[in-house]
This record gives sequence, C-alpha cells and structure tokens, in this order.
Amino acid sequence: MSAAGKIVVLTGASAGIGAAAARQLHRDGVKVIPVGRNAAKTAAIAEELGEPALTCNYADLDDVRRLADALLERCPRIDVLANNAGGMWVKRELTKDGNELNFQVNCLAPFLLTRLLTDRLRESSGRVINTSTMMVHKHGHIDLDDLDSEHRYKAHDVYTTTKVGAALLLREYARRNPDIETADYHPGIVASEFSRDMKFQRMLLRTPLGKPLQKLLDTPEVAGQRLVYLCETEEKLTGGYYFKNERAEENPVVLDVDNARKLWDLASRRVGLEV
Ligand SMILES: NC(=O)c1ccc[n+]([C@@H]2O[C@H](COP(=O)([O-])OP(=O)(O)OC[C@H]3O[C@@H](n4cnc5c(N)ncnc54)[C@H](OP(=O)(O)O)[C@@H]3O)[C@@H](O)[C@H]2O)c1
Repeated sequence: MSAAGKIVVLTGASAGIGAAAARQLHRDGVKVIPVGRNAAKTAAIAEELGEPALTCNYADLDDVRRLADALLERCPRIDVLANNAGGMWVKRELTKDGNELNFQVNCLAPFLLTRLLTDRLRESSGRVINTSTMMVHKHGHIDLDDLDSEHRYKAHDVYTTTKVGAALLLREYARRNPDIETADYHPGIVASEFSRDMKFQRMLLRTPLGKPLQKLLDTPEVAGQRLVYLCETEEKLTGGYYFKNERAEENPVVLDVDNARKLWDLASRRVGLEV
C-alpha cells in the first residue's frame, strides 16, 4: 500500500505513539484523520496535520457511535483504521454503559468502531491495525465469565486481559471479513503518557533511580514508526501479530476460535450490535 494520498483514521492521536505516528504519516503524504479524547490536545495535533479534530471518549459508547457517523460523513474512503487509543486504569470503575473501564476502552469501543466502519473499509480495500501489547503474547489470558473483573482487580492483569479480548475479536473479525486486512503489534515499552494513572511509576521515573530506566524506554517516535510500517507496508496483512515490523509468535490464547466466537457474541450484545 503506497502511502501518499491514503486516508488513515488514527485513534489515540492526541498523545504518545498515536501523535508521533500521525506526524510521520503526514510527512509521508498520508491524509491522517486524528481522533483524540482531550479536545485541546486533539486540536493541537489536528492543526499540525491540517485536518479538523475529532474527539471521542471511549468510556461512552454513544460517543463512539457519534464518532463513527462523523467519520463516515467525512471520509469517502478509509484505507486504514488504526485502533490505537487505549490505557490502563489503576482503580476498578464501571462506565455509564455498565462495563469495566479497561474492557470498554481497550476492547469494546474499538470493536464497535471497527464494526460500524466495516462497509467503508471493505469498499476501500482497507485494513485494520490494532495497537496491542507483548504482554498478551507472554502471559495473556481471558476469563469470559469475568469480563468486568468483578472477582479480582489487578490493573496490569486487567489491562492485558482486555488487550487479549481485542486480539481475539480482531482475529474473529478477520475470519468474518477475509477481504479486510488486519494486524496487531507491540509498540515497545514507550515513554508516552501511558502511565498517567500510575502515580508511583510516574514519580519513580522522575527520581535519579528512574533516569537509567527512562533510557531503556522507546521514544514515541520509534514506537510510532512501528504503527506507520503497518499502515504503509505493501505486504498483505493476514491477521498476525508484529513486533519491530516483523511477524512474531502469537499466544495460542488469541487463536482460540471457540473463545473468539463466544467473545464476539458477548461483545456484540454489550455494544448493541447483531452477533
Ligand atoms: N506506552 C507503552 O509502553 C505501551 C505498550 C504497549 C501497548 N501500548 C498501547 O499503545 C496505545 C497508545 O498508548 P500510548 O503509550 O501512546 O499512551 P498515551 O500517550 O497515554 O496515549 C493514549 C491515547 O489514547 C487516548 N485515550 C485514552 N483513554 C481514552 C478514552 N477513554 N477514550 C478515547 N481515547 C482515549 C488518549 O487520549 P487523550 O490524550 O486525548 O486523553 C491518547 O490519545 C494504547 O493502546 C496502549 O495500550 C502502550
């Protein structure tokens, strides 16, 4: 897929990996439609890209439906949907839709957005790229009977589980839509705003002890390049997991077709779509 002239819808474009990727894509001649949550931050990146800003809070599924309508109105074509928005929340919280917050933001909201944009993606011979994490493939698991983490809440585990959910759903999406290319990838351990809800981690990184740790992190630019690669590559993307621009081994958990189908049904009901 040659870059210039393509239309990329990029969520989580207001900060970190998304903002860095948006700038790189823009430099390559791609028309980037930036979506963020914070209005001021999204307006700032949108101005750099010369595009109007779209905002959406994934904690509200009606807002996701509004976003899909706005994108369908604005984009005659969608060559790439980059589902990059995401985060980790330290305390358990339910959204107004009644879902655990990590599960909704990292899994249900991008699932809903992707489903609502499917016809446009198909017409455009488009692709869907999800920002995942290596933790999914190192030790990820999912309990379909506890999607809202009612029984146990450890932020890192909950975050990883919700990304396992997103990976399972993306693979089921690929099976149901073989004409739409898909991939997910690990961006690296990145010095972004990701730890915004983790006060201790943020404090530690600012101490003299944290300085050497900071050096081990990837910059948003390096991580953003990994997203740019998947947006622009001529390689046919057939649903695999990538790290450093190469296919990497997947956790069998994300290849469990039976679980993927069950989660598809559960997630569809949660977002009010047909199974
Ligand atoms: N950083 C890492 O080490 C790392 C590692 C593996 C995977 N990832 C994944 O990489 C992706 C990007 O993260 P990042 O590191 O760039 O973090 P970041 O700097 O915190 O950026 C996160 C982006 O997601 C948006 N977002 C957060 N909550 C949202 C919500 N409720 N509704 C809509 N948008 C929301 C943010 O919007 P606002 O800024 O406008 O609020 C921001 O644009 C995430 O999916 C994350 O899970 C990150």
